Amino acid sequence: MPHAIPEGALLRRADLLEWFAAHRRELPWRADRDPYRVWISEAMLQQTRVEAARDHFERFVRALPTVRDLAAASEDEVLALWSGLGYYSRARKLREAAQVIVCEHGGAFPRELASALALPGVGPYTAGAVLSIAHGEPVPLVDGNVERVLCRWFGWTGNPKQGALKRALWDAAARLVEGLPDPGAWNQAVMELGALVCTPRTPRCDDCPLAPDCVARATGRTAELPELPRRREAILVELEIALCRKPGAWLLERRPAGGRMAGLHEFPTRELAVREGEERLYPARFASSTLRVEGEVGAVRHTITHHKIEARALTADAGPLEPDGPLRWVPDAELESLGLTGMTRKVLRADFARALC
Ligand code: ADE
Repeated sequence: MPHAIPEGALLRRADLLEWFAAHRRELPWRADRDPYRVWISEAMLQQTRVEAARDHFERFVRALPTVRDLAAASEDEVLALWSGLGYYSRARKLREAAQVIVCEHGGAFPRELASALALPGVGPYTAGAVLSIAHGEPVPLVDGNVERVLCRWFGWTGNPKQGALKRALWDAAARLVEGLPDPGAWNQAVMELGALVCTPRTPRCDDCPLAPDCVARATGRTAELPELPRRREAILVELEIALCRKPGAWLLERRPAGGRMAGLHEFPTRELAVREGEERLYPARFASSTLRVEGEVGAVRHTITHHKIEARALTADAGPLEPDGPLRWVPDAELESLGLTGMTRKVLRADFARALC
């Protein structure tokens, strides 16, 4: 049995649960077990780190406190609340799933795994998180933290994202979450250990409740496990961003429907070097528009998934605008409620942009 979990593992669970009770972070979505709040937080946590998710979460549930509010919200409102987290199709699916929950489940996040998995955008991870944390069901989950903790604890080699090891990790997570009074606490404890102690680099093994029977620690292999596939090298993208200002408003362009970051707003942008065979991040719009570029005022760097962006910011004169075209003047007061790309938010916070206001 290449991936059997060791005898002592089930007994060791008590030590990790005790550690979690003492060290768990106070997070806004841990204040209660409202399935809606758990679901929204877990969707965000697939996107970003705990610290970055905090503010987005607070803003999101303040604006849309219940699943019925989310189901009734406009897509633009949901995109605006998601703005900066990336993978905007996830935000759209969240709203669609809320509509299914309201129409088909009486407004309650389903308790059965199969019904949860049938919701748009809900995969095994999210279903496991909501069912265990909010509903107390013994449903497993595996994310990057769980992969790391289990591969090191049991000394498992291979790619945790694929094939036999992936299946073994889900099986092990299912065995471990069984028979506990609070399955949600267990799932969170493993993830919390991965986030705080069993970190990718320089894990703090001396503080780890699993250390007494951790195979990676005993064999000096914490640095080698888990055996993740090499990351694709980042693609460098060079952009020019046009900053057009008139009193109290910025000129922004709405991205086309379909494709990346569909429907979000950004400064008119031109992608400079286009690599052969690579899809453009920025369709050629600003290039063919009527903007007259003036001088360079600053630069920003931004990373989305495996694109490393270097953008030069230029002031520009808007010239005449097509009425109903994708370009429009957006008053400062509207910026907060508009779906903006993460890079646009970064530029708006930069000193060189503030200086133009
Ligand atoms: N990462 C994602 N979800 C988490 C949770 N509920 N607790 C700790 N870390 C997490």
